[in-house]
Amino acid sequence: MDRGNFGNRFTAIMAMAGSAIGLGNIWRFPYMVGQNGGAAFIIVYLFFALFICIPIFLSESVIGKRSQLSTFGAMEKYAPKGQWKWLGLLTVFTPLIIISYYSVVGGWSIEYLLKSLSFSFTDPQLSRDGHSAIFLDFVSSTWKPILLHTAFMGINAIIVMAGVKKGIEKFTKISTPILFLLVVLIMCYSLTLPGAKAGVIYMLKPDFSKLTGSAMLSAMGQAFFSLSLGVGCILTYASYLKKEESLLHISVLTSVFDLSFALIAGFAIMPAVFAAGIEPGAGPGLIFETLPFIFSTMGLSAPWLSNIVAILFFVTILFAALTSSVSMLETGVAYLVDEKKMSRPAAVGLLFAGCWTLGVFCSLSFSSLADFKILGNSLFDFCDKLTSNFLMSFGSLLFALFAGWKMKRSDVYDELTNGGTLRGSVKMFGVLYFLIRYIAPLAIILIFATNLIL
Ligand code: PHE
Repeated sequence: MDRGNFGNRFTAIMAMAGSAIGLGNIWRFPYMVGQNGGAAFIIVYLFFALFICIPIFLSESVIGKRSQLSTFGAMEKYAPKGQWKWLGLLTVFTPLIIISYYSVVGGWSIEYLLKSLSFSFTDPQLSRDGHSAIFLDFVSSTWKPILLHTAFMGINAIIVMAGVKKGIEKFTKISTPILFLLVVLIMCYSLTLPGAKAGVIYMLKPDFSKLTGSAMLSAMGQAFFSLSLGVGCILTYASYLKKEESLLHISVLTSVFDLSFALIAGFAIMPAVFAAGIEPGAGPGLIFETLPFIFSTMGLSAPWLSNIVAILFFVTILFAALTSSVSMLETGVAYLVDEKKMSRPAAVGLLFAGCWTLGVFCSLSFSSLADFKILGNSLFDFCDKLTSNFLMSFGSLLFALFAGWKMKRSDVYDELTNGGTLRGSVKMFGVLYFLIRYIAPLAIILIFATNLIL
């Protein structure tokens, strides 16, 4: 059966970067920085991204590209007897939990796009508290967020139904570069706001006393989340790569894109958070309270420009969210199609129903279910923490151990260097293999241990 593959290197990188770049960079990164103390968190996050995430990215993509299968099939192929494949199967559920609450935030983005289309951000009378109140009113209004979550899930289902080439590829290659330009533009503007300096200092001046065990775990979780690691997405996408692609090249480029994106988004949001007097630790609503403030101050001097920027911004953020959520759904669909021999539409329908339902409950955790807590967290926060801090770390550990200890060294070498033909990868192989085999797994275990102790 033809599983379809990516047309060329540019589209392959754009699809991987499209999966990586999403609400994680623009929505989640700024509020994680805000909740975990600023610059110190960023330093640890960057460290994890480079020394743990790149090796994990390579492990996942080696497994995917070598096997040309999705997680379960790949593990079954290289380790038919052990428990690996069942552990691998667990990772298939992680992106399905993520997409449920991610889609709720996707729905929020639709709401803000609609608001910007009706020019709601140009009212200079609206105070800062006004923007926060509008956000809180909206998320607690029960039906509208659910309706928009449904719309977001629906668009996902349609794209994934269309398959790799027609759906995903076409979509990502345009939206990702546009978003990048827009975030840079917003950053430049945000840095000129009065009071922005405090935000810049917050991003640059580390206070290591804030770095608790749980902040470290969150930094690692954010790094995995942002690069879509430990859930089989990168593995699945790598299985659609052509044989001649260089995995090292792709992983480094994707990580650099993703990291710069997060940092630029941070420098776009944090200065405005301080300029607007919003609390940096405000949580999941942070950007939805801050961005309207940016747009309405911009509107004071250039109403048209601010409208155009707002509309373009929310369109592209929606695209960024979709290119990520599509990769989550695709991971589950690939499993059902490859292993369970389901048809694509049936697989999409089944997963849509499950994820939509969980998403409805996550959405309600901002209204009627606000008092329902699991281990002190709302359902939305619980799903978020469970996946990024635990399930993604578990999956990442699993992939590193599988590539480092279970697959043959010669297979990993062959796949990373394309049979010894990629000179750069040949030179780096020793170091990379050491990182995959020892450093990445040990670091993940260590962070868990630290989190338990500190
Ligand atoms: N990396 C995506 C983002 O930053 C989120 C994601 C997580 C995508 C897991 C796929 C799998 O928004």
